Amino acid sequence: MQASDSTFPLRSRVAIVTGATAGIGEATVRELVRLGAYCVINGRRREKLLELVRECGEGNVAAVVGDCADDSVVTRLFDVARYSLGDPRHEACIVIANAGRGLSGSVLTSDPSQWEEMIRTNLLACAKLIREAGKRFLSEQEGKAIPNLLDRPRDILVMGSTVGRHISPFSSMYGSTKFAANSLAEAARRELGPKGIRVSLIEPGFVESEFQGVAGYDPKWFEEVKTRIGPVLQPPDIARLVTTIVSQPAHVHMSDVLIRPTRQEYP
Ligand SMILES: NC(=O)c1ccc[n+]([C@@H]2O[C@H](COP(=O)([O-])OP(=O)(O)OC[C@H]3O[C@@H](n4cnc5c(N)ncnc54)[C@H](OP(=O)(O)O)[C@@H]3O)[C@@H](O)[C@H]2O)c1
Repeated sequence: MQASDSTFPLRSRVAIVTGATAGIGEATVRELVRLGAYCVINGRRREKLLELVRECGEGNVAAVVGDCADDSVVTRLFDVARYSLGDPRHEACIVIANAGRGLSGSVLTSDPSQWEEMIRTNLLACAKLIREAGKRFLSEQEGKAIPNLLDRPRDILVMGSTVGRHISPFSSMYGSTKFAANSLAEAARRELGPKGIRVSLIEPGFVESEFQGVAGYDPKWFEEVKTRIGPVLQPPDIARLVTTIVSQPAHVHMSDVLIRPTRQEYP
């Protein structure tokens, strides 16, 4: 291995990251670029995306502004990866379905006017991205002999949640979308793993980000949580996990990782 390969282990890999204007997605882009990857980033807030492009360098990051559940946005992410970044012979080979939003409350107490947007973002957009990535990765594999399926790693990562594995009656509408993400990821892993494509699920506990405000959590309640179980996770904690997963040799798959603040006992 050349010295530059150990300094930049993700050199020549091209990543797509949705939900990159804040929190986990933004931190993940920084970490991917630090390790040498190129990124195509997505979110609805143009100025926040452009700030991150400027920070990371235009040669390293390109932006696709828009709703990640729009079919045209999904297609553009892959087209920009193909034509604008990295080695033109290389397609995107890391795809991270991260965009999402929470919603405080149960089926009875949450605001039903926000259900559709949440389901569209957390479930439909995630499914569309898995589908597009899976189809493209499979077409690159067509005709290859089994030993060549692992010639270079291809990763699809899905951002689930601890409440997508352990039922939390207090955020059950949000939790149901993450149970769905859990199921989509595991089903895709079973379908695509034998073709040499890794589908990984990350299930974080409490991460401090814009998430709590968007979900409508009572700030006093969240302060109490931080006092009780803190320090809670910060977005770079998840970003390091993402790059650890995608840096494994192509035959090694960390397929499902729960990551919590050490003092979080539940969910
Ligand atoms: N924070 C936590 O405690 C926690 C725990 C477990 C799992 N998660 C999951 O981790 C992921 C990231 O959360 P976070 O903590 O980083 O939250 P965050 O700080 O609120 O960031 C959410 C990101 O998603 C983007 N987004 C939301 N709706 C979108 C849409 N329709 N189209 C495109 N982008 C959209 C937002 O960008 P724009 O507003 O610019 O569109 C933003 O960049 C989510 O899937 C979340 O469910 C979070």
